[in-house]
Amino acid sequence: MSRPGALQDTHNRIIGDLRISITDRCNFKCVYCLPETEEAAKRFLPTSTETTEPVSQTVKKPLYPWKPRSQILNYEEIIQIVRVASQLGVNKIRITGGEPLLRQNVDWLIAQIASIRTIRDLSLTTNGTNFKRLAKRLKLSGLDRVTISLDSLDRANFKKITGYDGLANVLDSIRLAKSLDLSPVKINAVIIRGLNDQEIPQLAQFAIDEQIIMRFIEFMPLDSQHVWRRSHVVSAAEIEKRLHSLHHLTPLNSNHLSETSTRWSLGQGKAEIGIIAPVTQPFCGNCNRIRLTADGKIRTCLFSHNEHDLKSILRHNSYSNETLTDRLKQIVLRKEKGHRINQPDYVQPERTMSLIGG
Ligand code: 5AD
Ligand code: SF4
Repeated sequence: MSRPGALQDTHNRIIGDLRISITDRCNFKCVYCLPETEEAAKRFLPTSTETTEPVSQTVKKPLYPWKPRSQILNYEEIIQIVRVASQLGVNKIRITGGEPLLRQNVDWLIAQIASIRTIRDLSLTTNGTNFKRLAKRLKLSGLDRVTISLDSLDRANFKKITGYDGLANVLDSIRLAKSLDLSPVKINAVIIRGLNDQEIPQLAQFAIDEQIIMRFIEFMPLDSQHVWRRSHVVSAAEIEKRLHSLHHLTPLNSNHLSETSTRWSLGQGKAEIGIIAPVTQPFCGNCNRIRLTADGKIRTCLFSHNEHDLKSILRHNSYSNETLTDRLKQIVLRKEKGHRINQPDYVQPERTMSLIGG
């Protein structure tokens, strides 16, 4: 079905969801995103018994130094893009990073986006470290909900995974998000074999205790050092099996076709578990998302090798909304059918997750 005036691709998918990275900076170095810590080096350096899959020789210096301010879209430019996208049917916006709350005045940006009448879902993904200071202002500005990363409930393991001794702070943030009703509060836990898979039961119990949504995510090949290997991935099937042995899980119907997770309720219906399986059960067929990077590029897939510049259009002296509208429509027509993680010729994109946004 074609919808005039909508952002539609050549695979009949209508784009309704725009994820905006507002900064490439982050104060964490999560092993699955920026594996540039001692711990990442220890864990991911190749050993003589592991020769079958590609892995970097050594954990290198950051490949992507932070971009200077002039190359990052300013808030007015971001709002311009959101306005045009919203006229083309985009009604769901997520603010991400890097760590978005490292940028100044995010509440101002949120307020501007929230005031666009047709935006019906405005969310933020954060690592939770700067959240306590800003949470009330974000709520008052019109933020609907937050997703907070939490990969471990053990202080030492949390530090190993993120490079940051911040578990207590992040737990406070989760509780504050609940009390401010930035809900549904979702927690992202990327599961890596031998690192935090033993914590799956505790993380599920945490969802029950806190009555929140816990999403277990398969490790994707999007890290800065290209250390990802299939052997690190704990598959959705395995996570599900482990959960079923511990809890009575009631399957939940998906709210939308484009939903990325398979969901269950537990804890007398007060908590929810979702499993996101981009590696073993790709959900590209119903993908309705595009992403805007902090430096003004549209990515039509997390794993794209091409990106499409909007910054030069916005900064050109003949800029008009019509040019931007046409450009967005053209870009979406080139959205890939799906990712190729499982193809033998798969090549990891240049950008890391920290430069795209979750
Ligand atoms: N694989 C899976 N999920 C990832 N994230 C970041 N890097 C990866 C990866 N390589 C997720 C984290 C974070 C969100 C922004 O993206 O869960 O919460
Ligand atoms: Fe971790 Fe997100 Fe920072 Fe990447 S961008 S290091 S996933 S907190």
